[in-house]
Amino acid sequence: MEMGRDTVRVWINEARHVAVLTGAGVSAESGVPTFRDAQTGLWAQFDPQELATEAAYRAHPERVWDWYAHRRAMLTKAEPNAGHLALAAFARRHPGRLSLITQNVDGLHQRAGQPDTMALHGALGADRWLDAPRACCEAQAPQDGRPPACATCGNLRRPAVVWFGENLPADALGAAESAVADCDLMLVVGTSGQVYPAAGLALAAQQQGARLVMINPEPTELDSIADACLREPSARCLPYLLKEFL
Ligand code: OAD
Repeated sequence: MEMGRDTVRVWINEARHVAVLTGAGVSAESGVPTFRDAQTGLWAQFDPQELATEAAYRAHPERVWDWYAHRRAMLTKAEPNAGHLALAAFARRHPGRLSLITQNVDGLHQRAGQPDTMALHGALGADRWLDAPRACCEAQAPQDGRPPACATCGNLRRPAVVWFGENLPADALGAAESAVADCDLMLVVGTSGQVYPAAGLALAAQQQGARLVMINPEPTELDSIADACLREPSARCLPYLLKEFL
């Protein structure tokens, strides 16, 4: 039998702890361009490896810094959509019952009112030191530039996102794994399920007995192990699923 949105609403109502894993699709209706979509104009000529690795940054810091400035500028017009807001409202109404894990770096879940979002791939809106900061780096504000740098030792600031080949932040990944281990229902929203270890969280949830629900207009790699696949855009589906029972 095909499981529909009303069955999933019942599962949400029954669940003791819901884990939610989101990807780029949850922000599609906010107009946030994906990495690929943002590669317009002069950026189209570059391979992602030339824009999103530590080696690329060390070789061409100005180019990579400018790429992230371009993506940050595209974000300034984006607002949380009805999907982000529905998740935040549910979490507020049910403290401790929903854990939100995202692969997105756009900060829209946090801006929708979920500051405790576990951001597996970092934050586009923040930066950090490229090399471990020395006393001089901490002692003064970074010197303006593209990129900003420590005026004394030259250490560079870098975007606080996870680049290809880098480990996920241990604190966010550990918190996500704990949430998944404890959940009895997992919603996987707007992610193609191709990037690990994030996609592995859905497998882990399913293996420990949680129900797994995919919310995505398109088929994904994870559909075959899911208990239900709702083929709808998330900004329409999530408000329906998460609105209160009367
Ligand atoms: P993808 O771009 O791989 O997949 C986006 C998914 O969203 C696709 O499956 C679409 O069908 C779906 N989608 C599109 N519109 C949607 C909508 N309105 N509602 C719901 N779903 C919709 O993005 P991610 O799975 O997030 O990594 O990719 C994961 C990671 O790969 C990203 O975080 C990034 C990328 O390389 C890093 O930057 C490390």
